[in-house]
Amino acid sequence: MRISELFQKKPVGTTVRTHGWIRTRRDSKGGFSFLEVNDGSCLKNIQVLVDGNLENYTSELLKLSPGCSVEVTGALIESPGKGQAVEIQASGVRVLGWADPDEYPLQKKRHSFEFLRTLAHLRPRTNTFGAISRIRNTMADAVHRFFQDNGFVYLHAPIITGSDCEGAGEMFHVTALDLDSMCRGGSVTFSEDFFRKPAHLTVSGQLEAEAYAMALGRVYTFGPTFRAEDSNTSRHLAEFWMVEPEMAFCDLDEDIDLVEAFLKFVIGNVLERCPEDMDLFHRFVDTTISRVLEDLLTQRFERISYTEAVNLVSRSKKTFDVPIQWGDDLQSEHERFLTEDVFKRPVVLTGYPKAIRPFYMRVNDDGNTVAAMDVLVPRVGEIVGGSQREERYEVLAARMKEAGMNLDDYWWYLDLRKYGTAPHSGFGLGFDRLVQFVTGMSNIRDVIPFPRTPGNLEF
Ligand code: 4AD
Ligand code: MG
Repeated sequence: MRISELFQKKPVGTTVRTHGWIRTRRDSKGGFSFLEVNDGSCLKNIQVLVDGNLENYTSELLKLSPGCSVEVTGALIESPGKGQAVEIQASGVRVLGWADPDEYPLQKKRHSFEFLRTLAHLRPRTNTFGAISRIRNTMADAVHRFFQDNGFVYLHAPIITGSDCEGAGEMFHVTALDLDSMCRGGSVTFSEDFFRKPAHLTVSGQLEAEAYAMALGRVYTFGPTFRAEDSNTSRHLAEFWMVEPEMAFCDLDEDIDLVEAFLKFVIGNVLERCPEDMDLFHRFVDTTISRVLEDLLTQRFERISYTEAVNLVSRSKKTFDVPIQWGDDLQSEHERFLTEDVFKRPVVLTGYPKAIRPFYMRVNDDGNTVAAMDVLVPRVGEIVGGSQREERYEVLAARMKEAGMNLDDYWWYLDLRKYGTAPHSGFGLGFDRLVQFVTGMSNIRDVIPFPRTPGNLEF
């Protein structure tokens, strides 16, 4: 039985068998020992009472140290000690794998997150990273539940693509060409490459999602996306997971209603289904977490325009590293000011200047701004970027030309505006940033199992 089941079902008095890794061993003067065993199914360890009479007690069990794996058989009893409801009185402990205590790097003391990042293959064995993994899992499940319950079709958008959705040029190339010989003076002939044209890892599944939304009405993608932006910050990854719903016959206001309902659903699910793991973050990472998340469930997100936001920032008494003017993108210090100091809750900004947003966003009647929205949250800043899409062929084509794009490359995207075009909207949630927000972890590299960032491709 897994350890979480032992705690839930508590089949006291029966013989149970369980497996796990040793967290600690304590020896008593009375000739017996206590093992704390964890199997990752829950935060709690099961305590195992090991009697000195066991045949391998001296030869093996007294040598057990953190990281060793064991199979434990014994009677489940009500625990006399405080802190746990049940424990196992072992009738046998079989050692499955040793972990040399002179080498095993995860000793009992607390390690810094920086140090644990160098041990990404072992850090899931710690309380914090075990809890993050389980919370991340529950959140991923909640993402699917939300969209499945609301009639969205899950779309597998391609990972390899020939288009640049965000137009930022921050793409990784995909090639089967021999880079070595090219670098030694050869030139790139894309017609000889695998796809006979330049290919990239996708930065977003949105364009493909639009094609399917214009047939199925409501779709969503949930997969890895890639950006070769050289920003070494606590909220950027080169490979991150994005959730992108797309809805036909839907304007920006409905899009914002959707994102608000969606975020509340996912966060509500975590609070309901992961109380034990969340408690760890509340106690050891950020003591304001529970309050912030519970408040979020009951408060309406603040909705203001980009222009109002710029005014709030530029007229405040607070000094910022980078001042802001209408037309500039908000810096993370501005986002934090709005969410943490002014509104103390998530803020949805709408109506960004056309010049700082991608080609696909619908141009507003003022001709200057687009029907874009970003969701900002305390501490993390932007977690969602979305928009109503430009559904008018002429306007879209003009915007693409302005952006220097080759319209022939996007013929299929333009077709969607030629054949049965309709208003449609969607958004992209940075899934890792949401995990960061929910757990209070300060660095995004600590909420994804094996982070990919500039200069880092270990594991
Ligand atoms: O705002 P972005 O660039 O929007 C899009 O990609 C649209 N195509 C989405 C859509 O409308 N379907 O990215 C969306 C979100 C951001 O708000 C941020 O949370 C996250 O993706 N994100 C990153 N997360 C981690 N590391 C990075 N380098 C990220 N870049 C964006
Ligand atoms: Mg954005």
